Amino acid sequence: MTTLFDPVRFGDIAAANRIVMAPLTRDRAGPGRTPTPLMATYYAQRASAGLIVTEATQISPEGQGYLDTPGIYSAEQVAGWRHVTDAVHAQGGKIVVQLWHVGRISHVSLQPNGQAPVSSTARRANGKTFTAQGFEDVSAPRALRLDELPRIVAEYARAARNAIEAGFDGVEVHGANGYLLEQFLRDSINDRTDAYGGPKENRARLLLEVMHAIVAEIGAGRTGLRLSPVTPANDAGQDGDAQGLFNFVVEQLAPLKLAFIHVIEGATGGPRDVAPFDYAALRHRYRQGHEHGAWIVNNGYTRAMALEAVASGAADLVAFGKPFISNPDLVHRLRIDAPLAALNRDTLYGGSATGYTDYPALELAPA
Ligand SMILES: Cc1cc2nc3c(=O)[nH]c(=O)nc-3n(C[C@H](O)[C@H](O)[C@H](O)COP(=O)(O)O)c2cc1C
Repeated sequence: MTTLFDPVRFGDIAAANRIVMAPLTRDRAGPGRTPTPLMATYYAQRASAGLIVTEATQISPEGQGYLDTPGIYSAEQVAGWRHVTDAVHAQGGKIVVQLWHVGRISHVSLQPNGQAPVSSTARRANGKTFTAQGFEDVSAPRALRLDELPRIVAEYARAARNAIEAGFDGVEVHGANGYLLEQFLRDSINDRTDAYGGPKENRARLLLEVMHAIVAEIGAGRTGLRLSPVTPANDAGQDGDAQGLFNFVVEQLAPLKLAFIHVIEGATGGPRDVAPFDYAALRHRYRQGHEHGAWIVNNGYTRAMALEAVASGAADLVAFGKPFISNPDLVHRLRIDAPLAALNRDTLYGGSATGYTDYPALELAPA
């Protein structure tokens, strides 16, 4: 029987176990939105995960929506990430970067030249972001013109190329949590009347173009995607037919033979049953005729739930978010069923090593 602690290979990635560190924004990038040596230490401390997915990382200056989040569009950022990937690889870990465009979840003070953020729509989200002034309402966006969409696709592909130059084992496209790609996917947000709005085939077009472009750039074996079919995060609302929409998306993606799909079940960081959704059916649609790629699940998993998910075959890997923040040696603790350290919420976003790299590992039990 397969267990959570068994190695697994998916695409070009060989993971030592089936425990994934979920992407976690920590807002500690340096000047120029560049990864710092402290970030390299933080990720290296967590390298016993089978796979690390980095914090969301913007593909362009326009893709930024929060203060001090890192980018992967400049040479300095690529060099900074190289230190991170080297540090993780030196510990025997694997790491992919989460590629992010926030769309309308941004503020003019974070945008180039103070411009309006861009989205599928000109309707403002009801929500806040974190800026130099603290928490502020997000700004009103501008709807992207049809002739701008090829540029967005090209920016994703270039960011994927940069990721490989920076030494990453691959990329995870952030298709979740109400950011740009979900702003196109969901009929609760997308109010376009062109080829990227209306029926689900049109709303999925930008995401599918992005995935194809990245696969052409770096290969499917290094490319994954994160989805969150029913999360209400970032004022995403609920699609009129979430099951139909996401079934369609994964069916369209199946022939690409991606390395993995990573699904947030329920409300991100909240109730798993926020809205009805059949995740097993989604996985089945993806798998039909294509027995490839890993299925990663996330959201509120305990040790018992994760053991069961892998043992039953419901998932290939399980991602943990908050537990990895306060337990750098989460894999060891899960293996020996040790208690987990509590999280300090005051140090989640921004700041120093405090509440970041100073969570201790358990003392290793004598052999
Ligand atoms: C501090 C914090 C930052 C997060 N940043 C991201 C992110 O950058 N990208 C993303 O897709 N999800 C992000 N999430 C969501 C987590 O990846 C994960 O889906 C969520 O915490 C639920 O998993 P858990 O119950 O194991 O914590 C973040 C969550 C937290 C608590």
